[in-house]
Amino acid sequence: MEKSMYNFRVDEELCVQCGECAADCPAGVIHMDGFPVFDEDGGCYRCQHCLAVCPTGAVSILGKKPEDSQAVVGTFPTPAQMTALIKGRRSIRRYRNEEVSAALIEELLDVAGHAPTGVNAQDVLFTVVKECSVMDALRQDVYERLGKLKDSGALPDEGMVGRYMGGAVKKWREEKIDIVFRGAPHLLITSAPKASPCPAQDTLIALTTFQMIAHAHGLGTVWDGIFMMALGFCPELAGRLGIPEQHLVGYAMVFGWPAVEYHRTVQRTPAQINVVR
Ligand SMILES: Cc1cc2nc3c(=O)[nH]c(=O)nc-3n(C[C@H](O)[C@H](O)[C@H](O)COP(=O)(O)O)c2cc1C
Repeated sequence: MEKSMYNFRVDEELCVQCGECAADCPAGVIHMDGFPVFDEDGGCYRCQHCLAVCPTGAVSILGKKPEDSQAVVGTFPTPAQMTALIKGRRSIRRYRNEEVSAALIEELLDVAGHAPTGVNAQDVLFTVVKECSVMDALRQDVYERLGKLKDSGALPDEGMVGRYMGGAVKKWREEKIDIVFRGAPHLLITSAPKASPCPAQDTLIALTTFQMIAHAHGLGTVWDGIFMMALGFCPELAGRLGIPEQHLVGYAMVFGWPAVEYHRTVQRTPAQINVVR
């Protein structure tokens, strides 16, 4: 069975007519008439649940073959492993002077691209600095821009922003200590079209997903609020980085191989919980 736009196909040799694809379709565009029938005009949002849920690999959609998907059953990390990753992850502010391979960065971004997006929009843009030389040039550029602002009095001297921005420029000028990027060799920024259904959420979820897979590989990351502040003072930087004007910048994160090892978890204050009765 083939339809033009979504290319929904059922291999009738493999299909056992269990109805899982119809039952699981969030848009309700599949019904069973013996074999599954797809409603081309029903508002499919391309989530591929029909392909993923089929126990016999009989369903294909959007030209995707089930055999090209990764098997899932029994492959997830254990709760103990996930807990160790979540509790053991630390913000890394000391990095080895070593580039993360382009192949690994691409692998991490591929995984991060699997993060969920509202209405399955899948339009998060990952703006990444892959090369140390590019990062060094950007570092220099950002401090020059901030330095000019500081010298012209355009950076406030007081308050949190003044402390961070002005202090960062001072540290860089006097000691070549990089507070803005924590000396990291790589930068990742997520953005999404402002017109997308959930750009703020999608960009943060994508970055969180990147963070977790990066740490699972032994890499370090830190959410970069100071660079976000710098972007606020130098909005032209977004264009310099190739981020489209109609995009909402979600957040920035630096990453690289850590030059620090943590031997135990920290002890957070207990989660604040409001139980609805
Ligand atoms: C939204 C956000 C922005 C942050 N910005 C910075 C930053 O600019 N520089 C920095 O060194 N750490 C930054 N951090 C890291 C926090 O300081 C850190 O997560 C917190 O102190 C807890 O430490 P941990 O991440 O090691 O558990 C940021 C964290 C978040 C969530």
